[in-house]
Amino acid sequence: MARILLGISGSVTAYKGAELAREFIRRGHQVRAIITSGGQRFVTPLQLQALTGFPVPKDQWASEQPDGIDHIYLARWADTFVVAPASANTLAKFAGGIADDLLTTTALAFEGPLFMAPSMNSKMLLHPATADNIEILSSRGVTVLDCEEGELACGETGPGRMMEPVRIADLVETRLAGQLDYSGIRALVSAGPTAEPIDPVRVVTNRSSGRMGFALAAALAERGATVRLVTGPTTLEAHPRVAETVRVMTTAEMAEALGERFEESDLLIMAAAVADWRPEDVSEEKLPREDGSIDLHLTPTRDIVADLAARKGDRIIVGFALETGDPVTGGRAKLERKGLDAIAVNDPTEEGAGPETETNRITLLHADGRTEELPLQSKETIAHRLLDAVHSHLRRNRDQG
Ligand code: CTP
Repeated sequence: MARILLGISGSVTAYKGAELAREFIRRGHQVRAIITSGGQRFVTPLQLQALTGFPVPKDQWASEQPDGIDHIYLARWADTFVVAPASANTLAKFAGGIADDLLTTTALAFEGPLFMAPSMNSKMLLHPATADNIEILSSRGVTVLDCEEGELACGETGPGRMMEPVRIADLVETRLAGQLDYSGIRALVSAGPTAEPIDPVRVVTNRSSGRMGFALAAALAERGATVRLVTGPTTLEAHPRVAETVRVMTTAEMAEALGERFEESDLLIMAAAVADWRPEDVSEEKLPREDGSIDLHLTPTRDIVADLAARKGDRIIVGFALETGDPVTGGRAKLERKGLDAIAVNDPTEEGAGPETETNRITLLHADGRTEELPLQSKETIAHRLLDAVHSHLRRNRDQG
């Protein structure tokens, strides 16, 4: 099941856009529609709302979403964006980066695969301006679908007919099959630090920002997984497609939240920087400063991932490790001790890597002996490269099953 954003622009074939919505829904996808003011002369937002089951904003300023920013919300929501029919004007606006209505602003904010199915009179299609626009769009990675030849609404015969909805749906599905490689996978991700109380206001914690775990949860959701995220204290917001976000504080709370969700998961990515010790005695009253220096006796916390790995079954477990010495030797020992399928090792003392940075450099060690280097990149890009690498374990499981 994919989330498809369908843009309908002004053309007499706008009704075919509605047919395409119906075709996608028939194939089990979710569809949200955006229709330009030109398109609304042929098909009404109400018709599309009835077809798709989602509200169809009438214009850029008629905000239907609770957060009040439709174009950003829609751009994040969608796996793919299909504009059908795409009028000559819409092609020109997309090529020029013009953002003057909901369809065009959403297109600029959207980062996934974009398909455009032109529909217009032959002379308009063959005009050098339109040909140039199609070339510009294609060079940016937009899939501009071929037009079919035949009798056009204007009475002329020639190229310009929009591709049939069934063919468009076939093409989009073929493309998506390669993009949603985690579809059907139930993923559990931990993120952030844990914090262990000393008294009602003070804690022992670490400097993890949670960004790596949140980036992994987002990348998994974008690639079709059902994602549940368990996070320690952080101010980050989860990707809108993360199914559940559980916010915890202590290691024991994180262990409980993960333990409850582990059975119904196929993949656990343990990106949390779990506190290794907690104060043995937690004061119920705030400790007064007048008492002078205090002694904190720290006791080890439970190793969450090792406990979960003990009841692993055929689940895939990926851990993280911060190693300041020799990352490969230290990481491999941890992977074996904890019973993991793979471990992502990084050295926090290296520039651009570690808990508080926006970038990371990772050495990924697999239980089968393979080692992969993921060079310094943003945590968002690393998350995707890591998922590319982890996919081999899921394939192995699938092949064995
Ligand atoms: N981890 C865990 N529970 C703990 C400590 C760590 O589940 N109490 C997990 C982390 O989420 C990570 C992996 O174990 O996926 C390795 O964490 P790391 O802190 O590098 O290893 P430690 O076991 O804490 O070993 P050390 O502190 O000695 O390096």
